[in-house]
Amino acid sequence: MPIINHRLVLKQRPDGIPGPEHFEASDAPVPPLADGELLTETLYISIDPAMRSWIGAGPSYVPTVALGATMRAGGVARVLDSRSKDFATGDIVQGRVNWQTHPVLRGSQAQKLDLSTYTVEDWIGPLGTSALTAYFGLRDVGSLKPNDRVLVSGAAGGVGQMAAQIAKLEGCRVVGIAGGAEKCAFLRDTLHLDDVIDYRAEPDLTAAIARACPDGVDLYFDNVGGPTLDAALANLRIGARIALCGRISQTVAAEPHPIRNLGALSGKRARMQSFIVFDYNARYPEARAWLGMHLRAGRLIQRLHVVDGLDRAPEALGMLFRGLNTGKLVVRPVA
Ligand SMILES: NC(=O)c1ccc[n+]([C@@H]2O[C@H](COP(=O)([O-])OP(=O)(O)OC[C@H]3O[C@@H](n4cnc5c(N)ncnc54)[C@H](OP(=O)(O)O)[C@@H]3O)[C@@H](O)[C@H]2O)c1
Repeated sequence: MPIINHRLVLKQRPDGIPGPEHFEASDAPVPPLADGELLTETLYISIDPAMRSWIGAGPSYVPTVALGATMRAGGVARVLDSRSKDFATGDIVQGRVNWQTHPVLRGSQAQKLDLSTYTVEDWIGPLGTSALTAYFGLRDVGSLKPNDRVLVSGAAGGVGQMAAQIAKLEGCRVVGIAGGAEKCAFLRDTLHLDDVIDYRAEPDLTAAIARACPDGVDLYFDNVGGPTLDAALANLRIGARIALCGRISQTVAAEPHPIRNLGALSGKRARMQSFIVFDYNARYPEARAWLGMHLRAGRLIQRLHVVDGLDRAPEALGMLFRGLNTGKLVVRPVA
């Protein structure tokens, strides 16, 4: 019996929040393997805000996904069959699995994961791309220093919860911004942040940041952009740094939010810089050594939000833009 690969292809480009109507299922038998290829079974698919830009009409930092093509995604998979000398049946690999149950990967593009020390969930969570993004965004872009007063938006999400914890581990005072009481309780009671702001409950976010950061902000790690960035700009200290990680509040906004407080950058001799984590590829081992050290010591956690069923991947993608994910969002194709 041939193995059937169940996949979701892009049917239509979304205008706003992506959902099931933009994708369709397509099943096909897995083709015979060529030399150097692996047949795998997907264990987890990472669901990322950037995926919206990969399927939109506008420009993206990577080529957009073509209509009719399998949706692009990174993830973790188990090797079922190998025609590469570097991989054996049963190995767990990380790679471009896309939205499909049985990807055929090129061995040269898959990374074998060490399961002697870490779990599969560690590799997609505290050692995964979200964690690497937080690490390089804080250190290289944000020039993180001990005792910095750090503000993190989207703080309960995949990247944000790692950024908040890394800054705490480096001896900073950390304030997190998130939407809703449950996410704020997680930040306060589980991650032990110094203060939290529920932006959905605050009529004046600038004033709320001023209350939570009475001495101002040395480093703002921005996951959301828009009005939150504006409010953070109004609370900078002299010499502040802003690491522009993402701007999810603007991705599906009908009109871009006009930033009013850019003038604060000159008055505060501050700098604002964006980055893409893939540019730090050569230094992932360094980041994973640091993250792994803290993970093994029990000082680092990452809350995963698992959605079961490949067919729910489009719904999961939409959850990011509605704030419905509680933690790093992944899809498990087969529970
Ligand atoms: N630069 C890079 O290389 C890189 C790499 C990975 C990710 N990123 C960026 O990092 C950010 C976080 O990504 P993630 O994967 O960790 O996602 P995430 O934070 O786990 O999920 C997205 C969260 O964004 C918040 N959000 C959605 N709409 C919002 C709005 N209008 N205003 C304020 N917050 C809103 C929601 O949290 P609340 O419930 O708290 O609102 C939602 O849960 C994204 O902007 C992403 O594009 C950048």
